[in-house]
Amino acid sequence: MERTEKNWWHSAVVYQIYPKSFQDTTGSGTGDLKGILQRLDYLKTLGVDLIWLSPVFASPQVDNGYDISDYQAIDPMYGTLEDMDSLIQEANRRGIGIMLDLVLNHSSDRHRWFREALKSRDNPFHDYYIWRDGGPDAFPNDMRSAFGGPAWTYVPQLGQYYFHQFAPEQPDLNWENPAVRRALYDMILWWMDRGVAGFRLDVIDQIAKEPDRHITINGPRLHEFLRELSAETFRKGNLVTVGEAWGADVDRAKRYSCPDGSELSMVFQFEHMGLDQQPGKPKWDTAPLSLSALKACFEKWQHGLHGQGWNSLFLNNHDLPRIVSRWGDEGGFRETSAKLLAVMLHGMQGTPYIFQGEELGMTNMRMTVDQLQDVEAKNLYRERLEAGYPEGQILESIYRRGRDNARTPMQWDDGPQAGFTTGTPWLPVNPNAARINAKAQLADPDSVFHFYRRLIALRKTYPVFRMGDFTLLLPEHEKLFVYTRAWMDQELLVICNFGADPTSWQLPEGWAGAKCLIANYPDAAQGLLRPWEAKILYRRTDV
Ligand code: GLC
Repeated sequence: MERTEKNWWHSAVVYQIYPKSFQDTTGSGTGDLKGILQRLDYLKTLGVDLIWLSPVFASPQVDNGYDISDYQAIDPMYGTLEDMDSLIQEANRRGIGIMLDLVLNHSSDRHRWFREALKSRDNPFHDYYIWRDGGPDAFPNDMRSAFGGPAWTYVPQLGQYYFHQFAPEQPDLNWENPAVRRALYDMILWWMDRGVAGFRLDVIDQIAKEPDRHITINGPRLHEFLRELSAETFRKGNLVTVGEAWGADVDRAKRYSCPDGSELSMVFQFEHMGLDQQPGKPKWDTAPLSLSALKACFEKWQHGLHGQGWNSLFLNNHDLPRIVSRWGDEGGFRETSAKLLAVMLHGMQGTPYIFQGEELGMTNMRMTVDQLQDVEAKNLYRERLEAGYPEGQILESIYRRGRDNARTPMQWDDGPQAGFTTGTPWLPVNPNAARINAKAQLADPDSVFHFYRRLIALRKTYPVFRMGDFTLLLPEHEKLFVYTRAWMDQELLVICNFGADPTSWQLPEGWAGAKCLIANYPDAAQGLLRPWEAKILYRRTDV
């Protein structure tokens, strides 16, 4: 894709790579940059324009790279800076841009800045982090970290606590300090010079905090910081930026992704992903998904940002369980339901994101407690066991919602370790790799892979995917998710029968002769939608 036009990313499709689990070339059991290089042609075949690369920077890997100890070095586990340069070049040569994952909210406790900060209160780097005075058992307040335990850790030699929204090994950076902001901007400019196409910004709505007032998300200076960040860095190139924002509502998202480009290109918000959990409860406390609630949520976002901002379209990432296991059917309708979920999402306005293996319909995996790797899941296991939960119930919650589900190795073929590594993988390969793998799907024109490939191609052929406005039909229906998109004289009708029950259905007027752009059944049925049936129809209203 040419990245010269303003808003070029409106027609882009992004593929997220979790490098640790993508392709190993050394037998170490963890993926590496050379492995990604080897698989660029696979991504080219799929047709994606951008790769979002989860962090590959130097890191002690407490949170799999979301704890960075040097933003300008590649972790030896992944390769070298030269490998990164070749990856950027080789991807660019194929029209694919690289988006790096910037963790600007916190660093690792092994970062040089934090090690200096620990030396004394007068050290120039001390103020790079957030400190409060206190005694060993006198916490500044009762704030908790997202991964369990207090959000404050005591440093006896300083007589102070530092603040961390995530693990204690992930101290929060002090954005109030202009020197911190400058250091981060210089680092970003250095990466821009190396030819990256953009950045994904980790928990960006949490950078402007006031811990004394318990404010961590959407702090008062957030948008000021974002505008400065953007002006000092991204806007100097024609870069794409996506902000991870768990706390964004439509109004905030409009500011993040305002078409004047003053903040970010688009927002990555999670409202739809929280609909199958009990309100106000942690994600582990699940609830059945109501289709009408899901539709209402998408409708609100499609209308809210139309012409006024830009959204990401996603159902998976490295923090979420696999969508086929979550909202589709892991069993006999796995492929059909994977295709339905793709149609539902890719028919909308926004930039679609595909998480590695989603294009194969990969599923969750049941793990024993010894197999778990994720810091969040391990903490949950410990905490809930102590709180008296039965072990079986805790493991069931982790199976439904744990982050390791997304992180099992990419399933390339039906050989040993699914072709991911010649060694022992850091996280086990899902036993269903013998059935679900890229090699088999590349050879099968009806596979989930080729379905995604065709969907991506459609988005590039018909501008209505990019521009069209959205109208939800049958809002209360608990089985059918149907909507139209309209732009100039072009119109799409997107039809999804959510679930295994056949559902009676009549085409709305005027659609009888419409062209079918894509469908997950080979033939059309009259008056009925079959299990997990989905299709997109197209018509011109001027003919
Ligand atoms: C984001 C990342 C997640 C990480 C957390 C802390 O939510 O997606 O993987 O653990 O930030 O950096």
